[in-house]
Amino acid sequence: MSNLLIKNVNVVDAFQNFHGDVYVENGRIKEIGQDLNKSNVEIIDGNNLTLMPSFIDTHAHFREPGFTQKEDIDSGSKAAVKGGYTGVCLMANTWPVCSNYEVLNAVRNRAKEVGLTDIHQCVSITENFKGSNIEHLNIFKDDKEVKAISDDGVGVMDSSIMMKAMEVARKNNWVVMSHAEDKTFSKIDMRMAEDLMTIRDLYLAKVTKAHLHMAHVSTVESINAIERAKEEGVKVTCEVTPHHLALDSSISNYRVNPPIREKEDVKTLIRAIRKGVVDCIGTDHAPHTEEDKKNGAPGMVGLETAFSICYTTLVKENNISLNKLSELMSRNSARILGMNKGLISVGKDGDMVLVDLNQRVTVDREKFVSRGKNTPFHGREYYGEVKMTIKGGNVVYKA
Ligand code: DOR
Repeated sequence: MSNLLIKNVNVVDAFQNFHGDVYVENGRIKEIGQDLNKSNVEIIDGNNLTLMPSFIDTHAHFREPGFTQKEDIDSGSKAAVKGGYTGVCLMANTWPVCSNYEVLNAVRNRAKEVGLTDIHQCVSITENFKGSNIEHLNIFKDDKEVKAISDDGVGVMDSSIMMKAMEVARKNNWVVMSHAEDKTFSKIDMRMAEDLMTIRDLYLAKVTKAHLHMAHVSTVESINAIERAKEEGVKVTCEVTPHHLALDSSISNYRVNPPIREKEDVKTLIRAIRKGVVDCIGTDHAPHTEEDKKNGAPGMVGLETAFSICYTTLVKENNISLNKLSELMSRNSARILGMNKGLISVGKDGDMVLVDLNQRVTVDREKFVSRGKNTPFHGREYYGEVKMTIKGGNVVYKA
């Protein structure tokens, strides 16, 4: 781990805004101030740039093992750091599904080998996503590195199974990440599908006292239900995706699950961000091959475009502060995943991102380093470019 001094930079995190220098030693932030001088360290001039804590994604799919034609841990990690992310939570819908130590350790080892970003791999809630059995959770109970369980991509239909999983999760201090979709409604009404399951899971979390994290919240009814549950003291956090904030059905009908919603939903999500109901941004980075997209696979890539889309949509167009954006993209997601990141303060990991807020960027899917080129944002113009991503004091990406 190298020592690094970033000078003359606008520093912004969830709580502060100042111009100065930040020094990283042995992987952690050591000193913050003005006119810092160090010898024998790498120096970066941050003039005209903004230094933020690196971004942490609560929700991504790297497809390894099983679907590496769509993405793998190497290409996904490169996409992550290009987007300013040094922490990513991966969903378990790989093949085989992550329901055992063979898959979990394979992902962990590969992630460490690649070394660009810290990866948490979710364990599936039900064994092999079959929806019926949670016995496999017992083998992970003493593993301090397991943070979250999820059947994202499918969801858990059986309410008593979901309740039992929440009980196990509470005992082990795991987060239960809910993909809220009632499959009996998926072909009839995707709004009902999301809202029914959101309300069910909030109720189960109230009863079990588990930490529930609602993934990709997209409707008025769901975010309002989460707000009410928070007021009642239910231990629930939630994420929204960049695409559910930047698109509505009058702009795009790109296939993604949950679907792109209506203008009123988008307005309500943005209002919920202002009110503090939304905890974080999760990209739901979901790479697919062109052929799979043609055949109807839902989802889009998100890591490389998340910052500029969120900055433009929230900060430039909706007057939300950059501090708030940092809270959503770094501080809260780090807290949910139990990472020592997400703020620029002494003792935190030296994981930061240098951004040029005035730089205009046109999304070009051909320039993505992700294997997935599936995006509805191709050709759209935004503000804010990631110039450099730093992890533990090492530069892991440079534009
Ligand atoms: O659009 C989606 N794609 N939503 C999901 O929940 C799963 C994801 C995927 O794995 O492709």
